[in-house]
Amino acid sequence: MSLPHSDALVVFGVTGDLAYKKIFPALQSMLRRGRLDVPVIGVAKSGWDLEKLRARARESLEKHGDGADGATFTRLAGLLRYIDGDYGDPATFAALREVLGSAERPLYYLAIPPSLFPTVIEHLSGPGWPRDARVVVEKPFGRSLDSARALNETLRRGFDENSTFRIDHYLGKEAVLNVLFFRFANTFLEPIWNRNHVDSVQITLAESFGVQGRGKFYEEAGVIRDVIQNHLLQVIAFLAMEPPILGYRESIRDEQVKVLRSIRPLLATDFVRGQFRGYRDEPGVAKDSTVETFAALKLWIDSWRWEGVPFLVRAGKCLPVTAAEVLVRLKQPPFKRIVQGATNHLRLRLGPDVLIALGARVKTPGEQFGTEATELSLLRQPGGDELGPYERLLGDAMEGDSILFAREDAVERAWEIVDPILAEDTSINFYEPGTWGPPEAERLGADVGGWHDPDGPQSVS
Ligand code: BG6
Repeated sequence: MSLPHSDALVVFGVTGDLAYKKIFPALQSMLRRGRLDVPVIGVAKSGWDLEKLRARARESLEKHGDGADGATFTRLAGLLRYIDGDYGDPATFAALREVLGSAERPLYYLAIPPSLFPTVIEHLSGPGWPRDARVVVEKPFGRSLDSARALNETLRRGFDENSTFRIDHYLGKEAVLNVLFFRFANTFLEPIWNRNHVDSVQITLAESFGVQGRGKFYEEAGVIRDVIQNHLLQVIAFLAMEPPILGYRESIRDEQVKVLRSIRPLLATDFVRGQFRGYRDEPGVAKDSTVETFAALKLWIDSWRWEGVPFLVRAGKCLPVTAAEVLVRLKQPPFKRIVQGATNHLRLRLGPDVLIALGARVKTPGEQFGTEATELSLLRQPGGDELGPYERLLGDAMEGDSILFAREDAVERAWEIVDPILAEDTSINFYEPGTWGPPEAERLGADVGGWHDPDGPQSVS
């Protein structure tokens, strides 16, 4: 059932980093595809005017998009409006209300610190404001279960769950969505996709760069809050969930939540924290910071399908390569004598280039009666998403389609999983930039044949 399209887009925090890096490029692509045809009203307190905002949008497209495309950019510039003002000042909202005019279903994008949400939501849900508005909320969605609950409560004051869109850009990535399609559009996978055949699952999100000037943000977050509680737990949910029901779209999110509910809360013994040497010298970072820039952990999913299969997760900054990869190792076949070394695996590379590959063994050519490892590549695509995640998700939100957004119960459950290790004062282990994190992390991979270290981006011919 298609829902009415939003008839205006309001971006709170339009002069900030997120709009600069992600939102303007997404808007230009949406325009090109005919997915945007409504006023885009920016709100911020920066002392700017509309011309300055247009110039910023152009710069954003040059730096973070595919350039300001003549005719499309002129249309985008024509849709832009700007309101400068403090969120605490009723005059800001009076000006916004006027610019919104007869819009009945605006989409509000809150690209602002969560501490400002209550004030903004209170204004937007007051008398005289459109009743059918929608709201998009950026991550981080809270810092803990308690703060996420408080945020959800704040949002509920103005919007019901169907009108609330919590963005996790991993859910909008083509390669992540392909996990679902690959799993449920093939017959050969289902019989082996369980505890009887899978030995272990590993997920690595490696980044070769550091905090890139986001030291202040990172001090509040750390790698668990930044990418594990959200992006990587969502990937696990896609890898481990039961098939959704066809014809009932919400069942995708129901199944995601079921996986999250089956994950045991983390134990400190299944967790290693690291910090790259030099992090404390970054601007905005405390000289004695113990915030983690690397984490390795082992998860257990207590379900019929996955009981006893370890899921290993590793993420970090300043690692040797930038790559996100899943490795599903299958159990050893009999005849260990001729199967020495790596056994079968499935490798799903989620970025920056995309790959699905099946690891198998074949006879070593020549006299020997032995085998060697080979990999059959099932899908290989250069980097770059066909449809960028922000473009997809913003377009979906404007159409009122919330399937690829984190639901309230999923977000809260994900916090419940990581909360115990965030609360505990676990020690921090240092690592050299350009290495695979602190040596202490090796311990977690020891009983599954070791960590699999992804390669850097491959050129695709
Ligand atoms: C963001 C984090 O949510 O995800 C960043 O804040 C991280 O720290 C990024 O670099 C990773 O996303 P992607 O799409 O580049 O893998």
